Amino acid sequence: MIMSNAKSSLKIAIAGLGVVGAEVARQVINRSDQLCLAAGVKIQLAAVSARNRSMDRGINLDDIDWHDDAAKLAECDEVDVIVEMIGGSEGVALELVRAALASGKHVVTANKAMIAHHGLELAQLAETNRVNLLFEAAVAGGIPAVKTLREGLSGNDITRVAGILNGTCNFILSTMETTGCDFDEALADAQRLGYAEAEPSFDVDGIDAAHKLTILAAIAFGHQPDFNAVSIQGIRDVSSVDFAYANQLGFRIKLVGVAEPGLMPRMQTCLLPLGSQLAKVNGVLNAVEFHGEPVGSILAVGPGAGGGATSSAVLSDLIDIAVGRGGFPFGQPINTLLDTSAIKNGAWPDNPFYVRLMVVDQPGVLATLTGILNKYAISVEGLLQQGRAPGNAVALVMTTHEAAEINLNRALNEIENLAIVRAKPVAMPILNLDLNK
Ligand code: HSE
Repeated sequence: MIMSNAKSSLKIAIAGLGVVGAEVARQVINRSDQLCLAAGVKIQLAAVSARNRSMDRGINLDDIDWHDDAAKLAECDEVDVIVEMIGGSEGVALELVRAALASGKHVVTANKAMIAHHGLELAQLAETNRVNLLFEAAVAGGIPAVKTLREGLSGNDITRVAGILNGTCNFILSTMETTGCDFDEALADAQRLGYAEAEPSFDVDGIDAAHKLTILAAIAFGHQPDFNAVSIQGIRDVSSVDFAYANQLGFRIKLVGVAEPGLMPRMQTCLLPLGSQLAKVNGVLNAVEFHGEPVGSILAVGPGAGGGATSSAVLSDLIDIAVGRGGFPFGQPINTLLDTSAIKNGAWPDNPFYVRLMVVDQPGVLATLTGILNKYAISVEGLLQQGRAPGNAVALVMTTHEAAEINLNRALNEIENLAIVRAKPVAMPILNLDLNK
């Protein structure tokens, strides 16, 4: 895992010169002396692969070895590190990384999908070939979340990792809350500003954030990275009216990933108390909250995407390789990582819920509803009904005491079928992450 000290430079090849790849190249070229001080050797850009050779990227790449086929970079004898910036869990990126590790090259990647799906196999390859596989840039962009767990907090018993891991979703939710606009409008804004892709499902369905949570959970709790062992819910179903109700009740709606020992990590749209640390992280920012013993609680907030933030993470991985502190990809040897069968079967503890029903405004409705909730052992904590529309639908918003999700779902299924209920019930968990950890 440690580079030969005899080398006077660390030669890198960048596969993919998009926003992040080009910024890494720019930093390596323009800040060569400063990076050399941190790395102890010169980090030298030796080769690149990108589809468009003629694009003006604001850097002079004339003397750099160009390859049209990114996979061929793995065959460049003089290259020490492949910097994979292509993306996608399969295809060229995976082919290149497999070949690079197998041929004894270190790999630095920002590819969360690939690490979430193939991290175990790739880490095994890295270990077998005694090279580094580093992916700080894959989680929360500029926030050093991977290193915080692998290094800064390595002496702790980690009890929870929770985070806002997708800037696009955080931007959309914040925009819906502050402007009152609906999901489609906020998404269009995110697309116009370049945060969301034209095809936004990876972001808004929680998949991108779940890739990152998969990686953090594996490192935090010493189990194999397993994307299929994460429960995922996105933000598409949130309605703008829920932000105002949540606010009146003292909460804010966020997409939050939570991982705890022995439990299936979950990515969910939930309510957080307005005063909690993560609730205050708005707009396109990311945040990760680490809880552990003996450290207590730590919050890291920062940009989760973009050339500057993500290249910062890539550069720190390159420096780690140069100085020989790459370590095991998931913080411990592969054969010590637990498999995920136990967490797949673990049930989450009960938690309170926010529930919104659209019901006909008429006497007796509340009695009918509480009767059904009572049948499933759901205890109502608070209730909010505003407006008056006799005979028409009004919103009835309630918070529950701690309840089992399965019971709540059964109750809501029954409630949905009542003639007095005019829309599909909305329910979101209320998480109080500042307590008990
Ligand atoms: N699209 C992601 C986000 C960044 O919006 O946070 C890359 O994972």
